[in-house]
Amino acid sequence: MSLLKVENISKSFKTLQVLRNVSLEVGPGERHVIIGPNGAGKTTLFHCITNILPIDAGAVYLDGKEISKLPAHRLVHLGISRTFQKNNLFGDLTVEENIHLALAAKKPYRYDIFSPLTVRSDIRKETNDILEQWEIADRRHVKVKHLSYGEQRLLEVLLAMASNPKVLLLDEPTSGMSPAETAQTAAMIQKLPRSIALVVVEHDMDVVFSIADRITVLHHGEVILSGSPDEIRNNEMVKKIYFGGGAKQHA
Ligand SMILES: Nc1ncnc2c1ncn2[C@@H]1O[C@H](COP(=O)(O)OP(=O)(O)OP(=O)(O)O)[C@@H](O)[C@H]1O
Ligand SMILES: [Mg+2]
Repeated sequence: MSLLKVENISKSFKTLQVLRNVSLEVGPGERHVIIGPNGAGKTTLFHCITNILPIDAGAVYLDGKEISKLPAHRLVHLGISRTFQKNNLFGDLTVEENIHLALAAKKPYRYDIFSPLTVRSDIRKETNDILEQWEIADRRHVKVKHLSYGEQRLLEVLLAMASNPKVLLLDEPTSGMSPAETAQTAAMIQKLPRSIALVVVEHDMDVVFSIADRITVLHHGEVILSGSPDEIRNNEMVKKIYFGGGAKQHA
């Protein structure tokens, strides 16, 4: 059984239909990359999977249970976590404080962000583990607004991981990064444990092919193909639509 199943979802903004009968299945631990030109509906698909936007038709299942109507914060507890295409960090807080908050969001107790002394020992320990595991302990006291853009995007991925998700959705994790930062991010994504399934929207084709087990191509809100990296690479329609210059691509 697939872990995440998106079944025939559709979404319109007024008269603009952005998603048409989109279906997708992601198995446990799978690395599933979604590609498609600008405006294809990729971010909207993530918003619909996480119920930030209500879907018009279809359903989303996690572990066989329908989650389409559940509020976004319940989904984090059920095991779906995500990053946003736009930075979603607290710039005036330090790296460490941002990690505290991300961890606290998953805990069953309430956390008072104005009383840092109340940070619980379990959160302190998990924060240290994250800082050490990802070799960013030397950046722990740096305010996030003082990190480089690439470091901020990396931190976002780490924070989304902090809730220990079954499925992690990453929306363009390398957008706006330098080539070095892009390579670093791709390497980090490759290192994420296989206990986590990944659904990644990505434009950089080197990154796409370095991480994907399976690739789905979205075009004008429709899935036009889903297959192995080789199937996608060799598909004439994909070559024409996606690689072929007709569609505007990110730099
Ligand atoms: N809240 C909204 N209201 C109206 N139209 C929207 C809204 N959000 C997105 N759209 C439109 O829906 C279409 C799909 O947008 P979406 O952001 O999902 O594309 P995308 O594939 O993520 O593109 P990109 O590669 O540029 O990030 C676009 O035409 C966009 O203008
Ligand atoms: Mg997008």
